[in-house]
Amino acid sequence: MKITILVDNYVTSLTSLRDKLMSEWGFAAYLHDYKILYDTGLSGNVLLNNMKSLNIDVNEPEYVILSHRHLDHTGGLMKFLNERNKPIKIIAHKNLFSPAKAKDEKGEIGIGVNFTKEDLEKKGAELILIDSPYKLKDNLIISGYIPRNWGPSHTGGLIDDIPDDMALYIIEKDGIVVLTGCGHAGLENIIEYGFKITGQNNLKGIIGGLHFMGLNEKRLNDIISYIKTKSPIVIAGTHCTGIDGISLLKQSFSSSFKEAGVGKEIII
Ligand SMILES: [Fe+2]
Ligand SMILES: [Fe+2]
Repeated sequence: MKITILVDNYVTSLTSLRDKLMSEWGFAAYLHDYKILYDTGLSGNVLLNNMKSLNIDVNEPEYVILSHRHLDHTGGLMKFLNERNKPIKIIAHKNLFSPAKAKDEKGEIGIGVNFTKEDLEKKGAELILIDSPYKLKDNLIISGYIPRNWGPSHTGGLIDDIPDDMALYIIEKDGIVVLTGCGHAGLENIIEYGFKITGQNNLKGIIGGLHFMGLNEKRLNDIISYIKTKSPIVIAGTHCTGIDGISLLKQSFSSSFKEAGVGKEIII
């Protein structure tokens, strides 16, 4: 399976494309084998620029899956739809259109979606809103709401606990590959719920934003110890995993660590 990182906080060092790729705070990835665009980044400009630079036709994706409602994952959707001339299925949590807010030292800002249901439908999108596990194909399950039964969630000081945070589980013969946008539901919850609803017990890989930013050392150590018990062959933490978090993953998992970043192709 090939996954290309289309939007991320940084660009990888592909020399031949270094004047063509762009980065921004956000995340999007393309699953070539299943024609799934997972998240859309923040602005749309970066997503479209990078798809073009990486030769991925904007009409190729058949599905968009939105990991959660935050703007750095949903903000590119309208520009992406505007460029297309084909309908598409969009799978998101029922909570997609709830307002979302974040606070920093300068005040409160809205970080929810920048479109309405009608905006999407006008563009020919078939919107599938879920809150429980959704089987897209025999080996592809979208989590719906992830219960917080196995560990803490990571909301990073946000005002709600992001019930819309969903993971994509890809079932392969040697375990599940987990894709996550920001990982707000908490890594143990995301993985254990994946085992529960897929009936698998082997973690093959974990790819996406793991939200290590802002976590204390004890919590980070707990997560690393937990991942070690699962022995995945690929760990590509990116976006809100943060620079320190990515470096911690690299130190902790020398053989399974994979660099992500815009332009990176992860083969698993
Ligand atoms: Fe994010
Ligand atoms: Fe988020």
